[in-house]
Amino acid sequence: MSGTNPYIEKAEFELPAADYQITFLPLQKKVDVLAEKIATKSDGLPGSILNAALEAGIDMDHSCGGVCACSTCHIIVRQGIDSCNEATDDEEDMLDLAPGLEPQSRLACQCVPNGTQELIIEIPEWNRNLVSEDH
Ligand code: FES
Repeated sequence: MSGTNPYIEKAEFELPAADYQITFLPLQKKVDVLAEKIATKSDGLPGSILNAALEAGIDMDHSCGGVCACSTCHIIVRQGIDSCNEATDDEEDMLDLAPGLEPQSRLACQCVPNGTQELIIEIPEWNRNLVSEDH
């Protein structure tokens, strides 16, 4: 499932202008995000962390298909939060439903880095058994 949710505020974001890396914990997997090759067909906003994870073969849970209607794609941005778009009120509302909420929590499908910083992303413990990695 993918698409847009007509019932939520439209998230503002800028696509990365430069290549950057995302490290996913606890997988310790580094993903190169190439500015020229931002996927637009995967679930989540174009250039979102969910989008980058799926493109890299990390099967991150995203029950609603990446349209800001669940909280299963909850992640914690351990490094690089300043390079990410602002969370909308709708994202904050969904995050309030997520267990283990932290100040740097985001929904991976709504969080779009602009490529100016390297990111370190932690997948919360309660969600880890839902994440698998293709080899
Ligand atoms: S996948 Fe449902 S909110 Fe991100």
